[in-house]
Formats: sequence, structure tokens, C-alpha cells
Amino acid sequence: MDRLDGAARLLIVSDLDFTMVDHLDPENLSLLRFNALWEAFYRDNSLLVFSTGRSPTSYKQLKIKKPLLTPDVTIMSVGTEIMYGESMVPDAEWESYLNQKWNRDVVTGETAKFPELTPQPEIDQRPHKVSFYVEKDKAMKVMKDLAECLEKYGLDVKIVYSSGIALDVLPQRAGKGQALAYLLKKFEAKGRVPSNTLVCGDSGNDAELFTVPAVHGVMVSNAQEELLEWCSENARNSHQITHATERCAAGIIQAIGTFSLGPNVSPRDIQDFLKCTDEICNPGHEVVKFYLYYERWRRGEVERSDHFINNLRLLFNSLGTFVHPSGIEIPFSQCIDVLANSYGDQLGKQFRVWVDRVSVAQICSDTWLVKFDKCELCGKDRECRVTTVLLTSRHAELPGGFMWIYMHQTWLDGSFLGREDQRPWLF
Ligand code: GLC
Ligand code: MG
Repeated sequence: MDRLDGAARLLIVSDLDFTMVDHLDPENLSLLRFNALWEAFYRDNSLLVFSTGRSPTSYKQLKIKKPLLTPDVTIMSVGTEIMYGESMVPDAEWESYLNQKWNRDVVTGETAKFPELTPQPEIDQRPHKVSFYVEKDKAMKVMKDLAECLEKYGLDVKIVYSSGIALDVLPQRAGKGQALAYLLKKFEAKGRVPSNTLVCGDSGNDAELFTVPAVHGVMVSNAQEELLEWCSENARNSHQITHATERCAAGIIQAIGTFSLGPNVSPRDIQDFLKCTDEICNPGHEVVKFYLYYERWRRGEVERSDHFINNLRLLFNSLGTFVHPSGIEIPFSQCIDVLANSYGDQLGKQFRVWVDRVSVAQICSDTWLVKFDKCELCGKDRECRVTTVLLTSRHAELPGGFMWIYMHQTWLDGSFLGREDQRPWLF
């Protein structure tokens, strides 16, 4: 949370399943479009928060399967667990705050008496979240009876129904909206209130997010009826809430445009970067752009032209070096030869490349050190490399204005696949 020096330009708080992640899109295209937009224009000055119903274990399972970015804050188990940074440091203060009028044993004991409630798997049960499945037509009555029953024990609980099937029992103080309000209060205490906040969701457990004062909200096009109805009945700030016409992450990008919250054209949607205006060129955008070219070249989606390779020879300083994760040093010129020969080597495969955690440090007036994770998904295999590059704008005649002068990569923990077909000189 302390990653930024000042206040965030934009705080995005997004649900994961069927909001950031479209489980009906095996290519993950809208998620990858969002990733490119975020890393090129927002990572440096904004904050990304994932707020999910998933438990930490189930969130990790999703992360392995889908090309999710690393958020600044992760709120899990329907607003009952808050964790900071990539090392996911838990907020113990929040968890003890939730103990008021909560007794897990009483909740499990009493809910067991409702035959309509089927317990969810153990992986989804958490200290401040007891979860079930219940059929839609029985849900209302069960919620009412259960609330009355637990009240008799002096408990104050919140019962949340999502996706026409999942029922969560939480402490009254918990929930996605309460957790966000708590985060915003923390920012305020530090004098770092974000300029804008956008909450994004699709189902019942997201409803609370839309009640937090002064936030913009997007219900993605595929949002559940239960959320749409809830918002039309309860939301006081309806002019700040939009129902996108696009699904999942594409709906989030759309809402950034609807509310004029900042750049809303993903670099993934740009075919010809030469047409880009100067103001969008920044070191973060430069690395996003390069790896998009790299992906398209290897997928055989761009025209196989000498022009492309000649441009790369201008872009990469002829005396520059690439240090491969194995420690081997290769002159840039040789890397480009290999890339030139790799045209279409991923044709027809599920090959995608994205960058995560882009951080930019200006080290003198025309030189930047850019650090990021470069990730590759090939079918089910994933490989990530922590990458550092040195960029200079000394050669302003270059398209985009930057020249690459040095690049160094190391394996991100556990990411080395030891694939036989690795080409060590491909960056
Ligand atoms: C996620 C969780 C589940 C919860 C549901 C609704 O799917 O895994 O436990 O009931 O969200 O909040
Ligand atoms: Mg969802």
C-alpha cells in the first residue's frame, strides 16, 4: 500500500470471478487487454485491489490458471481477509475487529439445523466466513430464519447471497464494502485519498461495494440479476454506477472511459504503434508495446517483414547486452537474429505474453531503469522472468523515442520449467 509516494490517481477495486476473469473466455483476451492498459498507464501512479469471495488457497489456484496481475491489496473471503503487497501480509487489526458479536461455533452449530443448506468445501470455510449452497427459491426464507436464530445468541451477522447459489455467513462488520471503507479510511489517515475509485462486480457479494460513498461503480454486462436489482433498489449514487455493455474486464475498461478516469485504450487494441502520439509514450508503455510485438511476431500475427526486424535493430543498441536468467550473456544483435528466425513458432498455439509489476525509476534526465515481470503462457505452461532494462531517450528519432541499452533477467521463484526446447537467447 505504501508503494506510491502520493495519492493514487485511480483506485480500482475489482471482483475476480466473472468480473476480472471471464471463465467463458479460454483465451483470456479481455483480461490481457486490461493488463496491458494497467501496466502501460496506471501501474506507476494507481492502485489495484482484488476483492474476491475466494479464500487465499482458492485465490492461489486461480492465479496459477489465469494471467492475473499482482494487485497492491488482496481482499479475500468476502471482505474478511485483507492482505498487502505481493508478499500478502495479512491485516491482523482487521481480523480482530471482525470478532465483535461473532462466534463461529454457534454459526456452524445452528446452520447445521437447516437441511436446505449444503456446506461448501472445506477450502472455502474461513475464520470469519461460513459458506453454503442453497437453491434460489429457498434462499430468502432461510436467510430470514437464520438471521433471527443467530440474533437470539447475541450474534450480529451478515448473510450474503451470490450467483443464485452461494450463501455466506459473515460478521456484520465484514463484507467487501466494509473492507473497502476501512482501506479508504487508512488512505485518508495518511492524507492519500485516491483521486478516483472504481468498483467492479457481477454478483450479490459485490453489492456492498456500490454503497461506499464517492466511488464510481461498474456492473459488467454479464452481471447477475440479483446485483442489477439490488443496485436499482438501493444505490443512492446511481449516476455514478454504470451497467457496461461489455463482459468482464472489457466492461471495466469501458467504465474507465464512461467516467473519464484516464486512458482507456488498451495497447492490445493498437495495431500500429507508429500512429501513437508522443504523450502516451512512457517507459512502462514501451515495455508493454515491445512484448506485444514479440507475442504477435511469434504467433505469426504480424506481417513477416524486414521492416520489423530492422526497427528492432534500431531500437536495441548495437553494443547492448542481454543477460539471460542462466547467466549467459548474449549481444543484442544475436538475440534479434534469433527472434527474426522465431517468426510464427507459436502459430496456432495458445501463446500469450504479458508484463506485471512494471516499476520505473528515472536515473538521469534521459535514462530510465524499468523493472517488471515478463510472463509467458504457452498452453498450460507458464514462465515468468524478473526483468530489468535500461532505456534511454537520447535517440529521439526512434519510433516511440526510446532505445534499449541493457537487459537482465532472472527466474521468478519456481518459474523455471527447464523446458528442453528453451531458446536461452530469447528475451
Ligand atoms: C466464492 C467463494 C465462495 C463464496 C462465493 C460467494 O465463490 O469461493 O465460498 O460463497 O464466492 O461469496
Ligand atoms: Mg464474481
